Amino acid sequence: RIAYVNGRYANHNDAMVHVEDRGYQLGDGVYEVCEISRGFIIDMEGHLDRLDRSLRELRMDWPIERKALEFVMREVIRRNHVHNGMVYLQVTRGVAPRDHAFPTTPVRSALVVTAKRMDPVAAAKKAEKGMTVITVPDNRWERVDIKTIGLLPNVLARQTAVDSGAQEAWFVDPDGTVKEGASTNAWIVTADGSLVTRPADFGILRGITRATVMKVADSLGLKVEERPFSVEEAQNAREAFVTSATSVVMPVVNIDGKPVANGHPGTVATSLREAFFEIAE
Ligand code: PDD
Repeated sequence: RIAYVNGRYANHNDAMVHVEDRGYQLGDGVYEVCEISRGFIIDMEGHLDRLDRSLRELRMDWPIERKALEFVMREVIRRNHVHNGMVYLQVTRGVAPRDHAFPTTPVRSALVVTAKRMDPVAAAKKAEKGMTVITVPDNRWERVDIKTIGLLPNVLARQTAVDSGAQEAWFVDPDGTVKEGASTNAWIVTADGSLVTRPADFGILRGITRATVMKVADSLGLKVEERPFSVEEAQNAREAFVTSATSVVMPVVNIDGKPVANGHPGTVATSLREAFFEIAE
């Protein structure tokens, strides 16, 4: 496998970052993950717009121009022969002697781009089965609207899920409403067939897949309500599902040990998933 690191393409084993890269030492960086389906980068503009926002919120510069980054993404995808899979890009504040404050002499932000193949047949099989979710208290900072590489709460939440035989953890507010998953946005389908997902003003990441699924829902004539929902409402919903660049639309069939409806993926999530691939390109 080939990765891009700060201006050069290298084999993964030789693709290294400096020990004083601020991403490595301080988690001082941002990232994006885009899905690649049949050779297309899904929602690339949306992901790069969000990267731009994340960088601005953290007062970081683009490591290279946007057009150049697009080229690098395509080149990493090409060199790895990725037809279906994902491309990962990470921008950190650069290399400087360790200090919590920003470097006083300007340093160039550091860029890493990797890509990997994923089997669409295996993904479809997963979607046919659906996933199991547990809930955990949201112990993250307030700025989770910024897509930073500081993912320790997400890591621990996901491990808690895996330890209990589940595939995803949903962060829950003290008021009992669902925020989002460790790496996904959370949705339910109400009895009348409309979709509900939490508003993305603050407290969750504004998912790019989430936005596209709203368009897909519209094209299918489904109503979307942006409002918080409780764990209990989700457990008693007609369907539940998550969205992300890596999972696209993934049915949730069990929440904290309680089956959602009959415990099988529902028709709404399944048709959203199918329609997504037609619309997203
Ligand atoms: N995660 N919420 C969180 C906390 C996420 O990390 C992600 C994405 C999403 C969904 O956003 P999008 O639809 O733009 O992928 C929501 C990526 C896939 C990851 O960390 O691997």
